[in-house]
Amino acid sequence: MKKLTLDDLEHDAKVKKLVMQARDAAYWHAYAPYSGFAVGAAARDRDGNIYLGANLENAAYGVVMCAEVGALTAANVHGAFDQLEAIAVVGFAFHPRVDCSQIVTPCGRCRQLILEASELSKHIDVFACSGDLMQIEQWSIAEMLPRAFGPKTLGIVSPPSPAKAGMKPFDVKTFAEARSA
Ligand code: THU
Repeated sequence: MKKLTLDDLEHDAKVKKLVMQARDAAYWHAYAPYSGFAVGAAARDRDGNIYLGANLENAAYGVVMCAEVGALTAANVHGAFDQLEAIAVVGFAFHPRVDCSQIVTPCGRCRQLILEASELSKHIDVFACSGDLMQIEQWSIAEMLPRAFGPKTLGIVSPPSPAKAGMKPFDVKTFAEARSA
């Protein structure tokens, strides 16, 4: 783990952009009426594309989606789940009190999800930040989730998607074909 200062950010435009986008996602897009705690996540792929997420709460508390889930899902639908090299997470309390001083690290479930992506891209840096960005910790996901259960444990060899399995789009039935079958 490495602690970064605001000065470090001034010398690393890529990291600065990532943490600011995560902070802005939390500020603008968190849906957190129950906890009053906003979280944003920004995942960057090897080409520099950034995928955002914000926490999404629900009246049925147990089904809450973390910000990291949103960012990883956005990367996945853009074909970049296996290309990720960094993810920044920023969070802060906004109601009933405001507190931007605590570092937010990914929860256990999110660490597991990031770990899966890192097994594909080989390495993911996690930037865990306080809402005011005065505290930033840089972790590798392997360091944050040691001795992880992952795809290697299962010895997975199957292709991850129909497209990667070589299935052609026309192998999927059209509505008309399905109806007449
Ligand atoms: N939260 C995240 O979005 N990511 C985490 O890694 C930790 C927790 C959210 C879930 C919930 O909406 C709020 O923070 C308070 O737990």
